Amino acid sequence: MSKKLTVAVVGATGAVGREMLNTLEARKFPATQVRAFASARSAGSKVPFGERELVVEELKEDVFAGIDLAIFSAGGGTSTQFSPHAAHAGCVVVDNSAAWRMDERCPLVVPEVNPQALERHQGIIANPNCSTIQMVVALKPLHDAGTITRVVVSTYQAVSGTGQKGIEELERQVRDLFSMREPENRVYPFRIAFNVLPHIDIFLDNDYTKEEMKMVNETVKIFDDPSIRVTATCARVPVFYGHAESVNVQTEKKITAKQARIMLSQAPGVMVYDNPREKMYPMPAYIAGEDPVFVGRIREDESIENGLNMWIVADNVRKGAALNAVQIAEELLKKDLIRVPDRDVFLS
Ligand code: A2P
Repeated sequence: MSKKLTVAVVGATGAVGREMLNTLEARKFPATQVRAFASARSAGSKVPFGERELVVEELKEDVFAGIDLAIFSAGGGTSTQFSPHAAHAGCVVVDNSAAWRMDERCPLVVPEVNPQALERHQGIIANPNCSTIQMVVALKPLHDAGTITRVVVSTYQAVSGTGQKGIEELERQVRDLFSMREPENRVYPFRIAFNVLPHIDIFLDNDYTKEEMKMVNETVKIFDDPSIRVTATCARVPVFYGHAESVNVQTEKKITAKQARIMLSQAPGVMVYDNPREKMYPMPAYIAGEDPVFVGRIREDESIENGLNMWIVADNVRKGAALNAVQIAEELLKKDLIRVPDRDVFLS
């Protein structure tokens, strides 16, 4: 690797930002320098980076000179404001927020599914929603083999998807309830401890939530195939790490459960964990901290012609966010795409 790369993590004090630093370090991403940015509130504090610590710098519009690649996980507003300035300074952005995902100028990439989309990037690349990422990794081999026509998904999503504040809310409410105190709802509209909320992100005019429509629209964009029909119900569950999804898939061509099991076990990024007789099925509590997308409960849907049911579980902070973003960075490096072709595209 000849190029000397300076890499920034923006939102480095957050749940995903910290995991991005861990992932860069663990995968030995070839950066000569790694810099950590967050808001003015955290400037001067330290975040771990392998054996070392990085001093957090305040994010400002003019900090990107000399930075080759910035991985953002600091929320949509921060990304909308700062990513264009990064691109203007010649810094390629991989952004974990929803700000750029549906922007036509920005590829939306899961490296196991559509790495080719990176080739037309203009400076900002979007990392999909955590629930979408784990689902499309498992759908990819089935779509290639049998052409998916429809997907019905229900999610069971961990509180870490809301960031550090979601983790703290569940912790605090559990402690309050066990101490006979009335738990306070600061982050979610209702109690999350010992409850299930069928409500993630805001409600839209069609009565779906934004999270549900992200799964619909992002899946179509990633597969570049508007003929895939997707419908989703997203729920928040009192789990710290790991999203689970019940996914029903309909294909043009029949795929048996046995064939699906073989295809999935050969697919990159997928780990089939499926043996009902041995009580083998993936669960969030047991896969947190792991990289693959785990698939179990693979079975034919006996109510329709060409249908399959699956249970898909992945660590939402890793493959659902930090790992996917770092894999995008690795793919950009491999394809020699860490450069901004036109620095003014996003400022105008
Ligand atoms: P800070 O800790 O200084 O608020 P999470 O998703 O876990 O809540 O993390 C959000 C991340 O985004 C944190 O690192 C947070 O930094 C960062 N962040 C939020 N707002 C800004 C902002 N305006 N400028 C820079 N970083 C921000």
